[in-house]
Amino acid sequence: MKHFLKETDFLPHEVGEVFALARDLKRDRGQSGQTPLAGQTWALIFSKASTRTRVSFEVGIRELGGSPLFLNKNDLQLGRGESIEDTARVLSRYVHGLVVRTYDHREIERLAASGSVPVINALTDFLHPCQVYSDAFTAAERWAGPKGDLLASLKGRKVAFLGDTSFNMANSWILGGSLFGMKVTLSGPVNHAPGPRIRTLLEAEKRGIDFQFTTDPMEAVRGADLVYTDVWASMGKEEEASARKTLMGPYSVTSKLFAAAKPEALFMHCLPAHPGEEVEQCVLDHPRSVIFDEAENRLHIQKAVMAKLAQAARR
Ligand code: CP
Ligand code: NVA
Repeated sequence: MKHFLKETDFLPHEVGEVFALARDLKRDRGQSGQTPLAGQTWALIFSKASTRTRVSFEVGIRELGGSPLFLNKNDLQLGRGESIEDTARVLSRYVHGLVVRTYDHREIERLAASGSVPVINALTDFLHPCQVYSDAFTAAERWAGPKGDLLASLKGRKVAFLGDTSFNMANSWILGGSLFGMKVTLSGPVNHAPGPRIRTLLEAEKRGIDFQFTTDPMEAVRGADLVYTDVWASMGKEEEASARKTLMGPYSVTSKLFAAAKPEALFMHCLPAHPGEEVEQCVLDHPRSVIFDEAENRLHIQKAVMAKLAQAARR
């Protein structure tokens, strides 16, 4: 069974197909007549809050002809201690796919290992692959133009990731950047540098440690095609918010820092943003900020991912 738990669950040529399909689905939205999820129900199991992910998946499943079923983890017996394995086996008897947002990445690996339907990672503390695919697609739309090769347009481009460089979005850029052939430089406090787990995964996949880390944000943004940031205190880290504000202050994407990137550089943020903390409002509003295109593209990319997984499951 094919799953989408991490960026590299699609091979490079499959990523090209996902991006191309997302471009078609975006262009023909609602008129493509493509209903690869016709007659199917896909369950969304969420343990954390969500605006973009939940709504884009629910809408996307409907647009592909299927029915979404939203389940709050605490309303399931899973929230009262039923095992992940039994939950996966039971739900696989009812639904055709699972979209899961949780804390521990191992939970989605265990769901995927025990169930018999595709599982999609809708964010864990470790990775957020739907977001980074959407972000890379958003950049590629601009760099490749309407007919160009989306994946090829990413090759050799530099991404500067600032702030909390040890959590899901940073890890997804490290792994995704490696898959897309991009140069990833991260900059944040040394005690929030990329951790051993992402390094172990890169080594296990024989990708090598091909990202850079620096505590100097100016060095990171120099020559960057894309400047990226995320909240300083992610979901589950709220109690550290005040300490992180002090620690990560120097990594705020100010207009001065953004101006030090390439003159045509894009600004991205997965959202939700905290203006005045990780990024200045004027950068969020900048003409080269593409934050709402990233949000929109979650819908098109995830539809393409689901169509591919449903096709693989039928084989
Ligand atoms: N970017 C993102 O995943 O947003 P939500 O938390 O609103 O789903
Ligand atoms: N790093 C953030 C991403 C939200 C989309 C979090 O995990 O809260």
